[in-house]
Amino acid sequence: MQVSQDLAGVINEREVDHEISPIFPLRWSKRAMSGELITKEELLRLFEAARWAPSSFNNQPWRFIYALRNSEDFDRFSDLLQESNRVWAKEAAVLVLIVSHKTFDKTGQPARTHSFDTGAAWENIALQASHMGFVCHGMEGFDYIQAYDELSIPRDQYVVEAMAAIGKPGNIEILPTKLKEKEHPNTRKPIEEFVFEGRFRSDNSELPPTYR
Ligand SMILES: Cc1cc2nc3c(=O)[nH]c(=O)nc-3n(C[C@H](O)[C@H](O)[C@H](O)COP(=O)(O)O)c2cc1C
Repeated sequence: MQVSQDLAGVINEREVDHEISPIFPLRWSKRAMSGELITKEELLRLFEAARWAPSSFNNQPWRFIYALRNSEDFDRFSDLLQESNRVWAKEAAVLVLIVSHKTFDKTGQPARTHSFDTGAAWENIALQASHMGFVCHGMEGFDYIQAYDELSIPRDQYVVEAMAAIGKPGNIEILPTKLKEKEHPNTRKPIEEFVFEGRFRSDNSELPPTYR
C-alpha cells in the first residue's frame, strides 16, 4: 500500500497488486491548487523530464506550449477550457498545451507513433511534477478546434493532444462541493482485463486459470 497525505489531508491509500516503484501510485490528478506561482527553473525541470522520454527513431515529436499564471496568455488558454475544468484549473501556476508533430523532423515522412511518443513525454512531466509535490492534471475538456487558431498551430503538421494544469497543491475547501467529493485517488482495472497472452481477447472467461 502506498500511503501519502496531501496538504488538505487527503490520504492516498492506493493498493497495488504487484510491487512497483511508489512513483506510479503516488501520482494522481488532484484539482485543488493554491494559485501560487512556480519558478522558471521548476518549470524547466518538468520539461527536462519530458525531454528524456523514448520515441520512435528518437524523433521527439512532442511540443509543449505554455502559459504562465498572471499573463495574457494564461487568460487565452483558460478561455479554451470547458467551464467544468476552468473552475479549478484557473488556480494553476501554468497551463500547458500538449501537441505532437505528425512527421519525422529529418525525413518529413509520416511518424506513425507521434501521439504515442508524446503520451510518454506527458507522463514524464506528470511523474516529475508529482515527485516535486506539484499538481499535474491532464485535460481533454477544452476547445480543440479553437486551440489550433488561438495558438497558431499549423493543422497540417501538428496534432493538439491534450492540455495540462500544473501548480502547487491547495486546500480542497476551495473546490465546488461536487469536485470536493471527487478529490481522492481512484483505482484501476485488474491486469487480466487488459493483458493477454498470445492473442487478443475481449472475453475474460477465455483467460488461463492463473489470471482469473
Ligand atoms: C489525456 C487526459 C485527459 C483528461 N481530461 C480531463 C478533463 O478534461 N477533466 C478532468 O477533470 N480530468 C481529466 N483527466 C484526468 C483523468 O480523469 C485521470 O487521469 C483519471 O481518472 C485517472 O486518475 P489519476 O490521474 O488520478 O490516476 C484527463 C486525463 C488525461 C490523461
